[in-house]
Amino acid sequence: MNLKTCVLAGPASKDLAKSVAKILGAKLIDVELRIFPDGESKVRIDGELDGKIAVIVQSTYPPVDTHLMQSLFMIGKAMKMGASVCAVIPYLAYARQDKEFLNGEAVSMELVGNLFNSSGAKNLISVDVHSQMALSYLKIPAYNVSAVPLLASYFKSQKLVQPLAVSPDIGGAARAQELAKNIGTSSIALPKFRDRNTGEVTIDQNAPELKITKGRDVILIDDIISTGGSVVKATEVLVKAECRRVFVACAHALLINGALEKIMAAGASEVVGTNTVPSKVSKVDVAPAICDQISKLNE
Ligand code: R5P
Repeated sequence: MNLKTCVLAGPASKDLAKSVAKILGAKLIDVELRIFPDGESKVRIDGELDGKIAVIVQSTYPPVDTHLMQSLFMIGKAMKMGASVCAVIPYLAYARQDKEFLNGEAVSMELVGNLFNSSGAKNLISVDVHSQMALSYLKIPAYNVSAVPLLASYFKSQKLVQPLAVSPDIGGAARAQELAKNIGTSSIALPKFRDRNTGEVTIDQNAPELKITKGRDVILIDDIISTGGSVVKATEVLVKAECRRVFVACAHALLINGALEKIMAAGASEVVGTNTVPSKVSKVDVAPAICDQISKLNE
């Protein structure tokens, strides 16, 4: 039993926190939540924290702002109770707002970073953060752990035919390369274009990269699936290019507005996500990756 560390199960990540506590051999402490009629959250930590390392696990999937505020309230209270806090924010919301794409846009991640910087947390661990730029706004030690090796293990246990890792966009090329390396295959990245005003996504169905997908099982990998717009477009062009099957994988399956149904309707065989966002596609547990990082910090 790890007596120095305890794991706080944030309201958004109870199952993941349980898994983290089990691997660490640490006590799991529940966090009670009340939502006031006006929408305010009130958290109550149900245990002793004095002198402990408190690992607070709370993802910030929708309702984004509510989960974000709850994470800050828990960190603040745990500090007051005498703990040294390691904030585990598996899905870090606002990371996509990491720069000013159009004039006058708020760089929201900068403020979110500042909130964690001043929260009192000693360090922060996240999973597949959207960009290094987003992470750069954190001035406390911040660590990004990859869910890709765990996703790769899932796919290695399936019987795939000539698997190929595909990123729906150039920005995700390194992620597809990492998946390919873990599976023992190659990867490509598709030329995606997103209209910054309408949000509409297009992918050139005549892109030369698509040629090598014919007859192969494709794993289309992204960090986030929100509306599904990116992977739906990518699945459509891959199906047109006559690949064998399309498996869609991501760390954070937000699946907004019927995204899962849209992806399946586009011709995907399966969608695989992790438990950074609990959903019916949470097939991969990211706790081992998070615990590896926690152990390194505590060495
Ligand atoms: C974009 O750069 C991200 O990596 C994802 O591709 C994007 O956020 C997914 O959003 P949606 O599912 O709405 O296309």
